[in-house]
Amino acid sequence: MSTHTTDLWYKDAVIYELPLKSFYDSNDDGIGDFRGAIDKLDYLEELGVTAVWLLPFFPSPLKDDGYDIADYYTVNPIYGTLDDFREFVAGAKRRGIRVIIELVINHTSDQHPWFKRAKEAPEGSSFRNFYVWSRSADKYEGVRIIFKDFEDSNWTWDPEIEQYYWHRFYHHQPDLNFDNPEVRLEIFKIIDYWADFGVDGFRLDAIPYLFEREGTSCENVPETHAFLKELRAHIERKHGGEIMLLAEANMWPKDSAAYFGEGDECHMNFHFPLMPRLYMALKRHHRQDIVDILDETPEIPSVCQWATFLRNHDELTLEMVTEMDRWFMWEEYAENHQARINLGIRLRLARLMDGSRRKMELMNSLLFSMPGTPVLYYGDEIGMGDNCYLNDRDGVRTPMQWNANLNAGFSNANPQELYLPVVIDPEFNYRTINVEVQEKRHRSMLQWMRKMIGIYKDHPALRSGDMQLLFPANERILAYIRSCPSETVLVVANLSYKPEVVELDLSEYAGRSTREMIYETPFPQITDRPFLLTLGAYGFYWLQID
Ligand code: BGC
Repeated sequence: MSTHTTDLWYKDAVIYELPLKSFYDSNDDGIGDFRGAIDKLDYLEELGVTAVWLLPFFPSPLKDDGYDIADYYTVNPIYGTLDDFREFVAGAKRRGIRVIIELVINHTSDQHPWFKRAKEAPEGSSFRNFYVWSRSADKYEGVRIIFKDFEDSNWTWDPEIEQYYWHRFYHHQPDLNFDNPEVRLEIFKIIDYWADFGVDGFRLDAIPYLFEREGTSCENVPETHAFLKELRAHIERKHGGEIMLLAEANMWPKDSAAYFGEGDECHMNFHFPLMPRLYMALKRHHRQDIVDILDETPEIPSVCQWATFLRNHDELTLEMVTEMDRWFMWEEYAENHQARINLGIRLRLARLMDGSRRKMELMNSLLFSMPGTPVLYYGDEIGMGDNCYLNDRDGVRTPMQWNANLNAGFSNANPQELYLPVVIDPEFNYRTINVEVQEKRHRSMLQWMRKMIGIYKDHPALRSGDMQLLFPANERILAYIRSCPSETVLVVANLSYKPEVVELDLSEYAGRSTREMIYETPFPQITDRPFLLTLGAYGFYWLQID
């Protein structure tokens, strides 16, 4: 167990996923940038988030939205300069907002000088072996293809050197060869470079795929965990214990939890399997899917934390569900086949919830009350829509909607110059779904989110309390207690489309009073008898047990 972690800030955080490109354009070229994001730091502060996760901002051919890095050491000029980055970090910190950046180390772009150099270097040399080569495409047979709508093999033939190279994602993203010690050394250097800018954390993209081993799925192999332990030790030795590592390991809970190690690998890890089950439970009007996955989720070291989320910049992934459940999700949430991509759904929360405020609020209430640090996806705080007719996952990456003016207030460029068009779908048109409109309306989604974030921050039980599931006879109701030494909170959620009644056994709290936490309404006193509550369709309560 690591002893160096001095500040567990990430366990108490509210993280906002921020793609620079989509947020705010300061120089009218149609692409969001660092100076734009600096201008919007006040907005983020007011929203109440305590950390931002910046998507890749490095030089890149942008064939995978910057997850195809061509230079790890600077800022892509379309987003600004290193000085702008420095200013962004300083501005964020002044407002109490930490900065997490993306570290894509599984692969580079094929435009990275390392790849070009590898092709020129003699076979067997360290430079050539920065990547994974083979004379035959039969090696590592059976390893699954992740971008299955776009690639039909994990090997691509390089006609110049007449060998195949390995890639888990697009063919223009060759995988680095982590068996080469020089590669591992380069990764340490990159981390040191950005840590010196005062970065608070790194999201480790695609981390289960670092090493390849014959006869395995080439995922989660022991060597990957050994490397992460080395990386963590290196960071603590050089930079102290406050830099957080957030794994992207889209795996079943047990495999996923392995990325915490003994508290000596990653500090955080996305809870991928929980996410689709929140959606499944809502369609089945039944709590079982959620209960089962929580049951399967192992205890994790006390310095570690799950990152929970409803949506992100990728498709809503259905990799961690059964085949049957995947079809259920596609049928229920993506009747329009255009919304289906790879093993997932390229829609935003608002569309998945049919634009229903009630459902969006219910889902967010679960996000903010279940164990784990909530990660919000930009735009979901205003119920922004999407456009699944755009390429790949672009439909959930459209410009942030600031107001009803030109380009949704995102940019003053010619609308044809925008990196992606703004959402004009009649149901989610930027003219009505935007920050300015919602700033003015007292009961808007944005104001509600601010309030929920505020309550979350004020209540340690919601952030870090233990969770005890309750099992009332009405299985349409999900209920649990979050408790820490200073307080106890009861969460009750109606997953059903109709009003429901529930009786909860709270006899161990008999004699104590309850209070609804959002509007501070006094609720009934708890007695030895079943605690009876009625809930509207998709309604929920957070009750403080005083
Ligand atoms: C990122 C994706 C990206 C892929 C390849 C992921 O898991 O979230 O957006 O396309 O890694 O880098």
